[in-house]
Amino acid sequence: LVIAKTKATGGTALLPELLAYTSSLAADRTLLREDLAGSLAHLTMLETVGLVPKEDAHAIRLELSTLAEEHARDLAWLPDEEDVHMAIEARLTEKLGERAGLLHTARSRNDQIALDLRLFVREGGRLALTEIAATLEAISARAKTDRDVLLPAYTHRQRAMPITGGFFWAAFGAALMRDVDAFAFAVSQADVLPLGVGAIAGTSLPIDRENVRALLGFSKISLNGLDTVGDRDFELDFTFAAARLMTHVGRIATDVVDFSSSEFGFLKLSDAIACGSSMMPQKKNPDLFELLRGKGARITGNLLGLLALVGKLPSGYGRDLQEDRASIFDARDAVLGALPMLRVGLANVTFDRARCLAAIDNDYMQATDIAEAMVLRHKTPFRTAYRAVGALVKTAQEMSVPLSKVTAAQAAAIDARLDEEVLAAADPRSSASRKTSAGGTAPARVDEQVAELELAAIRARALAEKIPSLDRILASLVAQKPQK
Ligand code: ARG
Repeated sequence: LVIAKTKATGGTALLPELLAYTSSLAADRTLLREDLAGSLAHLTMLETVGLVPKEDAHAIRLELSTLAEEHARDLAWLPDEEDVHMAIEARLTEKLGERAGLLHTARSRNDQIALDLRLFVREGGRLALTEIAATLEAISARAKTDRDVLLPAYTHRQRAMPITGGFFWAAFGAALMRDVDAFAFAVSQADVLPLGVGAIAGTSLPIDRENVRALLGFSKISLNGLDTVGDRDFELDFTFAAARLMTHVGRIATDVVDFSSSEFGFLKLSDAIACGSSMMPQKKNPDLFELLRGKGARITGNLLGLLALVGKLPSGYGRDLQEDRASIFDARDAVLGALPMLRVGLANVTFDRARCLAAIDNDYMQATDIAEAMVLRHKTPFRTAYRAVGALVKTAQEMSVPLSKVTAAQAAAIDARLDEEVLAAADPRSSASRKTSAGGTAPARVDEQVAELELAAIRARALAEKIPSLDRILASLVAQKPQK
């Protein structure tokens, strides 16, 4: 990409290598449709308030509409300029001559880029919410399928308590529910019209920002131009939402990677998603889940990069800000790439019920259940019951048998309250079903949790549908093009 001319500003003689180094055009290509939507809305407003004569507005609108409708995919026509704003202006000037310059009335590239980025985040948030909704549905479906599977849950990566498969999957759904909130918040932060503050301090021309706000479907207009042109908080919020979502995806992935190893053996990967080794013919690798985890790393880096970028800037606009966009583009791509593939992954793993059950049965995981049964039946103080069951576990370990195999006589010798009824709590099958407290793993409780996930999916979709899509906004602005 050799850039040596700035036609839009009248051929300013910049060193070609300087222009190449400082141009944001390569990254800005992604923002072409956002920029055209902003220009079309701005133009309509200028025409409405009488700053651009009708025929000129008509001619400019036709050119902008053609670019939006016909040339938005193949960008070869984009002239080599400093950025997408200048490239479009150069193109308009080529077609319309001096009249093209009317469009930049009461506008600066500073408020223009702030607009493009906000439209991008709003659209990215809309798409992310739709993907999260679909993923919540997929997780709910998995939770229902595996409602009665029993497996160990871990604390400190040591077997802790028996849980159900439904509970296991619903946990990840609960995390994704928070991502709905995070993306909705990021969208709400982006949902503010920056256009109309000009370069920084507003304009003496009689513009109507409220008109532009309505045309672009924003909820409000920005409060203060000095703040507006340097504000990238909405990018931070969006990138944070994406980075955090990717950590949730990464944690599901880690459990699947671990659980599908021979060491755990709880999950089996279907052949359709198991990758091979070029050397070891026996391997069935969980590459999909490793990459779902690995792709989040760069997004965390992008968030830090954005924070570093905005953190030292003076008030107003600084050209440094041009280095912002790769972070949000990448954040969106990571989320929109990961969630569909996570759903593919979820549909292609199955629990090995026997292995899971054996892991519970052999590992004294019902110790807490027995202690709680003692508390319930004999009103034993929990700490006393805890010690008695500790001794019971020790006995079982010494005999190398599971807790369920300790005899009534052996138990009674430790504490008479460890009677047959109390010991019945050692049955791993009943352990999960007894955890009926709110948020617990009993299947009836998990059914409630899954119902919440399904409601969250509906809510996420409703939120997404309330966000005006870029297509719809562009179509409405282009449609205002008067018939020839
Ligand atoms: N290319 C710039 C960016 O992407 C647009 C704003 C430039 N403003 C300026 N006065 N040079 O952030």
